[in-house]
Amino acid sequence: MSAIENQGRPVELGDVQGLVRFGHKHLTEACFLLLQVKDPAAARAWLAQAPVTSAVKTDRLPETALQVALTSEGLRALQVAPDLCDGFAAEFVAGMASDAARARRLGDVGVNDPERWLWGAGERVPHVAVLLYARAGRLPAWEQEIEAQCAAGFVRIERLSTSGAQLKEPFGFDDGISQPNVEWELERPVLDRDQLEYGNLTCLGEFLLGYPNEYGLYTPRPLLAPQRDPGGLLLRAEDAPDQADVGRNGCYLVIRQLQQDVPGFWRELDRQAGGDPDLRERLAAAMVGRTKDGEPLAAPGGQPVAGVAPMPQSTRNEFTYRDDPRGLRCPLGAHIRRANPRNADLPPGGRGLLSRLWRMLGFNSAALEQDLVASTRFHRLLRRGRKYGDDAARAAAAATGSPPGAETGIHFICLVANIKRQFEFVQSAWLMGSRFAGLTESDPLLGHRLPDAGNCPTDGFSMPQADGPDRRLSGLPQFVTVRGGAYFFLPGIRALRYLDTARREGSRCQGTYWGR
Ligand code: HEM
Repeated sequence: MSAIENQGRPVELGDVQGLVRFGHKHLTEACFLLLQVKDPAAARAWLAQAPVTSAVKTDRLPETALQVALTSEGLRALQVAPDLCDGFAAEFVAGMASDAARARRLGDVGVNDPERWLWGAGERVPHVAVLLYARAGRLPAWEQEIEAQCAAGFVRIERLSTSGAQLKEPFGFDDGISQPNVEWELERPVLDRDQLEYGNLTCLGEFLLGYPNEYGLYTPRPLLAPQRDPGGLLLRAEDAPDQADVGRNGCYLVIRQLQQDVPGFWRELDRQAGGDPDLRERLAAAMVGRTKDGEPLAAPGGQPVAGVAPMPQSTRNEFTYRDDPRGLRCPLGAHIRRANPRNADLPPGGRGLLSRLWRMLGFNSAALEQDLVASTRFHRLLRRGRKYGDDAARAAAAATGSPPGAETGIHFICLVANIKRQFEFVQSAWLMGSRFAGLTESDPLLGHRLPDAGNCPTDGFSMPQADGPDRRLSGLPQFVTVRGGAYFFLPGIRALRYLDTARREGSRCQGTYWGR
C-alpha cells in the first residue's frame, strides 16, 4: 500500500477514497447515482468488492473513477450492527432533512423546504451515493458497467447529471479557486498555538477521521472491540490502539442540489444597475467577492498567505481581509468573505504574551469585528461539487435574461470530518446567518430572503463606501433554491469492505454486547 511517510505514522493512501485528495478534474464527465438497498446481502456483497478509486497517485491518470458513500439510513438498510451506526456523529445519524430546527438553521425553509425536495427527504432519502467520473465520451459505458454490478442489491431513486468540470459556475464566475491545502505530510505540530495569522494549511484530521484535527483532538467516530473485526480488516485507532477504527481514512460527504436562477440573477442586477452594463458586473462581483475571472476584490495585488499551495490559482488566492476591515474593497457580506473570512484564531496583532492577552480579552477595538467571525481554521470545507444543466442555454440566458429551459445549478459537494462544526456552521452561521459581522442580511447568492427570527428583512446587500453611508441593494429575490440533499459517510476502503462482515459480527456480538 502506497503511503506518505511522516513521523512514523503513514497515511494509508490506498485506503482513502480518491475524491479526498483529487477533484478528478481531468475526468470531465460525471454523474451521481442515488440508490436504495433492495437486497441487503447482495448490496453488501457489491460494496465489499466495488472497484473504488483510491487516493494513490498513478503514473497515468485514470480513465474512470468510482467513489461510494452511505447515509445512516443506508447503514441501517444494509443491516449493519446498530451500535456501529450510532457511533457516528449525531447530525449524520439524524440526516440533513431530519427536523425543523436543522432545516431552519440551514436555510431550508420556504421554497427550500425539504418537503419540496426532489430527493433527500421522506421516502426519497438515498442509502448509497455512487459517484462516477470518466474522461470525455467514456461515461455511458462506465455507468452501464457499474449499474449492472449494482442491479442485484439496489434500486436507483435518482440520477444527478453534471455538465463538465469547467471552471465557471452557472452564474458565470470562475469557481474552485480557493481550497484548503490539506496537510497530508502531518509535519505541522498538532495544535499549533503559534498560528495567529490566517493560514491555508489545514490538518488532515479536519477532513479525514482518525487523525488529529485543528484542536489536536481525534474527532469521535465508531470504534469497535477487536473481536468485532476477527479478520483484521480495520486499522487500529491511533488514539485507542486496542480498538478497531471504522472511521479511519473516511470522512463525511455533504451533497446539496442547488438550482440557480441564472436569468433571474442577471435580470435583477440589470435592474439594480439601472441598465448600466459595467455597474451590473461590478455589483455582481461585489456579491461574490471576486470578478467573473476570479480576481479577488480584497487585494488585487495579493498578499502572501502561509500554506497557499503552489498552483496556477495561487496568485488569486494569496490575500486576506486584514487591510480591508470595513469592507470598502470587498463587502463584509460578499459570498467568499462570509464562506471564509480568512481570519486567524485570534485577531491579528503582535506575538507577545501581553499583546496576546490584550487581544484575547477583546481590548483591541480595531479587531473586534473580526473577532466575531474569527477561527476560520476550524471551519474549512473541501469543495468537490460539479455544475449541472446546459452550458449553451445558460450562456444565452445570462445574456438575454430569458429562461434557460432545463434546470441549471450546482451539485454542491463538500468533504469534512465534522459536519456540525464545518458544513453546518459555515452554512448556518456565516452564509444564512442574518447577523453576520454586524450586518442584517444573509448571503447575497444563497439567501432565501425570508425575514429572520426577529422579523428583520434579510433581502438586502450592503457595500460600504469610503465617503458616505453604505450603498445598499434591497428587495433582492431568491436566486438559489435547494432541490435535494443528504449527509453521507465516505468510508475508507477497508471500512467499506468491513461492512459485509459488520452485520454478522454485530449480531453475534449483540447478546454479550447489550447484555453487559
Ligand atoms: C449555487 C450556489 C453557490 C454558488 C453559485 C457559489 C459560488 C462561489 C464562487 C463563484 C466562489 C469563488 C471561487 C472560489 O473562491 O473558489 C465560491 C467560493 C466559495 N464558496 Fe460558494 N457558491 C455556492 C454555494 C456555496 C455553499 C452552499 C457553500 C458552503 C456551505 C459555499 C462555500 C464556499 C467557500 C468555502 C468558498 C471559498 C471561499 C474562500 O476560501 O475564499 N458555497 N463560491
